Amino acid sequence: MATFLHIMQIPTTPFCNGATLPRFGIGTWRMGERTSAAQEEIAVIKAAIERGVTLIDTAEMYGDGGAEIIIGRAIADAPSTREKLYIVSKVYPHNASRKGTLAACERSLKRLGTDYLDCYLLHWPGEHPIAETVEAFEALKAQGKIRAWGVSNFDVDDMEELASVANGNNVATNQVLYNLLRRGVEFSLLPWHRERGISTMAYSPIEQAQLLASAKLQTIASDIGATPAQLAIAWLLIQPDVIVIPKTTHIARVDENLGALDLKLDASTFAALDAAFPPPHKRTPLAML
Ligand SMILES: NC(=O)c1ccc[n+]([C@@H]2O[C@H](COP(=O)([O-])OP(=O)(O)OC[C@H]3O[C@@H](n4cnc5c(N)ncnc54)[C@H](OP(=O)(O)O)[C@@H]3O)[C@@H](O)[C@H]2O)c1
Repeated sequence: MATFLHIMQIPTTPFCNGATLPRFGIGTWRMGERTSAAQEEIAVIKAAIERGVTLIDTAEMYGDGGAEIIIGRAIADAPSTREKLYIVSKVYPHNASRKGTLAACERSLKRLGTDYLDCYLLHWPGEHPIAETVEAFEALKAQGKIRAWGVSNFDVDDMEELASVANGNNVATNQVLYNLLRRGVEFSLLPWHRERGISTMAYSPIEQAQLLASAKLQTIASDIGATPAQLAIAWLLIQPDVIVIPKTTHIARVDENLGALDLKLDASTFAALDAAFPPPHKRTPLAML
């Protein structure tokens, strides 16, 4: 008997150069670390794509390149889908010199089995001058090896430094730790992004599953007939310039997390979440995992 999958319509946000980016993707940290888990990880990425998920987040760091290899294997069977996918990878800060970034990108492309990345991020601020990394990103863009570039774990002062270098304003996104337990970014970083039309990628949207143990979250979720993971993800998705990239190695959890897209949150749910997970009242340094 044929099985019918629910293909999700995933909302998008303006990205750069007139393009758009899906606001729900799948993360891959901790994938590609164990050979014994490879088949399960490949299957979950394929299942996510079958369900309409096209944004895949990875990094050269994850599994020491192993996560990129897993993604490459997951998409190899359906090369025609490449144009529909948005693959984001990241360069290690210690590799992010001008020459080092170009070389790291080549290695990522090879592992992924693709000839371009949709977005290439600097994983966190590091020892190489940001101007050099931007120069390399722009060169990769001109060569067609990346379509856009961004940063990750950049606080407001890092973003200001980035904006001061040549072409620094071409930054498309900043991927940061953001979830109900980590709302510090709302005080000054998100407004800074919004004033400049820069999208925010929220990583660890369920705090690596720790958020799900919150009794307060469980109660509010059960009141609206949702699971805690769905509520945590839906709360982020309500903001039109925020992209969420939950990671899971279970197909059933891909379905559960995608269910967040169907949730409608009303004012009383927001108020309950604000009471349980208060917004910031002052600026705090950006947290990272
Ligand atoms: N830029 C950065 O510095 C940075 C840092 C961290 C993460 N990231 C990116 O963001 C992605 C997401 O963040 P994350 O992986 O740190 O954490 P996360 O997505 O908040 O949580 C992932 C964890 O939650 C579990 N999980 C997922 N859905 C679940 C559900 N419905 N019910 C119960 N458990 C569930 C997963 O377990 P199973 O796998 O066993 O299902 C996994 O252990 C990463 O994979 C990575 O791509 C970027």
